[in-house]
Amino acid sequence: MGVLNKKIVVLPGDGIGPEVCNEAVKVLEAVAERFGHRFLFEKHLMGACAIDATGNPLPDETVDACLEADAIMLGAIGDPKYDNNPAAKVRPEQGLLRLRKSLGLYANIRPVTAYDVLLDHSPLKNTRIAGADMLIFRELTGGIYFGEKGRTSESAYDNCTYSKEEIVRIAHLAFQAAGMRRQKLTLVDKANVLETSRLWREVVQDMAQDYPEVAVDYLFVDNAAMQLILNPRSFDVILTENMFGDILSDEASVIAGSLGLLPSASVGNHVSLFEPIHGSYPQAKGKGIANPIAAILSAAMMLEHFNLQEEADLVKEAVHNALEKQVLTPELNPTSPYSTEQVGSFIAYYVLEGALVVPHKSNIEVGLSTII
Ligand code: IPM
Ligand code: MN
Repeated sequence: MGVLNKKIVVLPGDGIGPEVCNEAVKVLEAVAERFGHRFLFEKHLMGACAIDATGNPLPDETVDACLEADAIMLGAIGDPKYDNNPAAKVRPEQGLLRLRKSLGLYANIRPVTAYDVLLDHSPLKNTRIAGADMLIFRELTGGIYFGEKGRTSESAYDNCTYSKEEIVRIAHLAFQAAGMRRQKLTLVDKANVLETSRLWREVVQDMAQDYPEVAVDYLFVDNAAMQLILNPRSFDVILTENMFGDILSDEASVIAGSLGLLPSASVGNHVSLFEPIHGSYPQAKGKGIANPIAAILSAAMMLEHFNLQEEADLVKEAVHNALEKQVLTPELNPTSPYSTEQVGSFIAYYVLEGALVVPHKSNIEVGLSTII
């Protein structure tokens, strides 16, 4: 692959979003330096910070900038002052939902892996989770999140609607991904109760005939929630609607050992967006304890999206090296924790220089001074 010029819009957002984005950008800069690419980063506002600055969780200029970008890196959005105020008319989440809709980001792809070196960090038994490796395809611009909603003084409603077209386009992506993996696709729905779920099942059953190499099975979401914990190795690709995917992917993070490890890519009609699946974790804001690995692995997904496989593999190798050497934030390494910045620098330094022998402090400081 030749040298690339890419414009990346960064939406740091709220809470720990800016901190983890800084580390992902640092790693992408290390990739650019090592491989001779040029990545231009442009920051824009979205979420609670955008409400504070402009009154709007998604200013028009942010959408315009995103539409002109080659890719988008998002940190996290959300703020407790809105979470605890159900009457708030303007909310940070509206920014994210509107962005997904405006950019047509209909498929959110969330890989979940049980890393061998972290097996003990999961509250689940090693023997159950070792070797688990799945890809969740969550529909992102339809369903109950986007249906008509409203309330009276005594009641409220949120409608759930799906069109065939909305199901077909993401199902194709999930079938193709399964074809390149272990050739198993699980559709998660609630077809014993919901009409939309029966449509999902009908459409996927039809499409299965075009993908004879992929074995398809169907699980009700309540059972899927249980099987995910009981027998996570039984999953390869999971395909599901918006809200079920939101819930199941947080649950699946327990298999990886921390929500701070899970990246995601959202793809659709125009530009793609890459974001850690964790939220804004406001309690940790500014403390330097947020785990930057999910954001860094999201950057690796961005590199794959640019067809920079060697670069993406190097970033993943650098992350594995940090996991193996225990250069980790407090939730994964309580006895000798490293800061968000130190973990990011250690990974970026590996990307620049290759394997480090010992992760002692001076190497990390060298990493810092080389990169910043
Ligand atoms: C996610 C988040 C969002 C969602 C929120 C912040 C709107 O939980 O990306 O999983 O529910 O989609
Ligand atoms: Mn979520």
